[in-house]
Amino acid sequence: MRILIRPVQSVWRWSFDLKRTNMRFRVHRLIAIAVILLNINALMAAEKLSPIDQKVAEKISFRADVWPIVKRHCWGCHSGAGPKGGLNMDTVADMLKGGDSGPLFAPGKADDSLLVEMIIGDEPEMPQQKPPLSAAKINILRGWVHAGAKDDSVASDKQLSIRIPEKYRFAPAITSVAMSADGKQIAAAVRSEIVLITVEGDAPPRRVATTSDLVTHVEFSPDGKTVAACGGAPARYGRVQFFNVADGKQVLSRDVGHDTLFRGNFSPDGKNIALGGADGAVHIVPFDAKTPLRKFDLHSDWVLDVAYTPDGKMLVSGSRDKATKISSVETGKLLRSVDSSSELISSVATDANFAISAGRARLPISFELKIALQGVQVSGAGNGARPISRRAQYAKNMEGQPGIVLDLAISGDRKVIAIAGAYGDVRTYNIANRQRTALITNVPAPIYGVAMNQDATRLVLGSKSGQVQIYQLPEAKLIKSISPVPVQAPAEVASQ
Ligand code: HEC
Repeated sequence: MRILIRPVQSVWRWSFDLKRTNMRFRVHRLIAIAVILLNINALMAAEKLSPIDQKVAEKISFRADVWPIVKRHCWGCHSGAGPKGGLNMDTVADMLKGGDSGPLFAPGKADDSLLVEMIIGDEPEMPQQKPPLSAAKINILRGWVHAGAKDDSVASDKQLSIRIPEKYRFAPAITSVAMSADGKQIAAAVRSEIVLITVEGDAPPRRVATTSDLVTHVEFSPDGKTVAACGGAPARYGRVQFFNVADGKQVLSRDVGHDTLFRGNFSPDGKNIALGGADGAVHIVPFDAKTPLRKFDLHSDWVLDVAYTPDGKMLVSGSRDKATKISSVETGKLLRSVDSSSELISSVATDANFAISAGRARLPISFELKIALQGVQVSGAGNGARPISRRAQYAKNMEGQPGIVLDLAISGDRKVIAIAGAYGDVRTYNIANRQRTALITNVPAPIYGVAMNQDATRLVLGSKSGQVQIYQLPEAKLIKSISPVPVQAPAEVASQ
């Protein structure tokens, strides 16, 4: 019956729209009847779905075949804190639970399922306002449900082999960089490895292999003894590995959810690291094997960066959903959505008084925490999640950047912020008065990562070109420029 209700609902809505355009009732009633007929045609066509080949269906893997389709076509709207239609499609268990209208399918009964009903026909309802799935993709989903909707996502994680080449064919992009507080150690993330670089002296870079497909965030612990490499494998797992800086040995590895983690920040006490997730949540990953993971559902889309306030009590998060939010570490609850930008937020940073966020909009904004959080109790009872108000009083524009901002870095003393992105310079600013303190020009743009030492006298940047550069500030003098991993010479590549 549901199958008929939906088309009738859409006709009803359409008739209403026509009424507003002052068309005569008879005309839109005719159209309405035509639409009902068309929909019935679509339903008839749907009933003529091709038979499912049992042998082919049994070979379909959730992880390898089904999940990539769901991820690409459904997951953007059906994941995170407020999934559309109440339907979360993060895991097979979530799909079995279903949304407002009940389970998405019963294993074995593909063509009686809400899933198939929604994606077939001439104008399928899902993916909403996007091109319909191809027949091949529809048949993968049907076949998988038909064969029992088995979940092989856990077993196949082990089969994933991460290969780290001795020499790369082309210089791989540097995805994230870190600098120790004393400015002597650098860590750079390159694909599945991190490279530890000593700024002074001639010690060769030390390559440390991870088991992430892509390392998206690298950071030294506050005491400088540990380096965290965070990332995972897309559509498989999120992973945080902690390594001993002295000998490059892994101390701990922890897995989080089913997808790559984005950027984040060590807690000031070094006991955990907070990272953004593709599920719209902030994940707190303790630096010990026993303390349970925590998950704060805050955003409706990927959380691209997270930062701790210096007292460790609050988190600032920025997301592809364009919002910058402040939450309480103690309760995991949203304190305030401080801003909603017109573009995605790629990066956030904070000191004790200001939270700063930036992204595709090119205009970093500084939020004065005290005013933004007025009336909000940071701990204890009380619901502080209020709508954005008084924005003009607490939000101050910083200097506009010449391009998209891809990363923000704060000095260890939290006095200076560095801003970098898809443009040829890196700028630093005094956080308190938003005045520029240094300008580094002619950098190998785009820059994916920046970091500074304790007192902002040294800065490291990581470029898409594969270069890592270290500068002295505020003079903007280049100290070192290196390619952290070996790359084949052009002649070697040509002869292959
Ligand atoms: C652009 C956003 C968007 C995308 C992409 C999308 N959906 Fe939806 N979906 C919605 C919205 C909005 C609703 C709720 C409104 C409605 O029922 O019409 C919904 C509702 C549903 C429901 C009904 C849930 C219930 O229990 O009532 C199902 C099933 C569904 N979607 C499946 C899918 C599948 C499968 C895909 C991928 C092939 C997909 N959706 C992609 C936005 C989207």
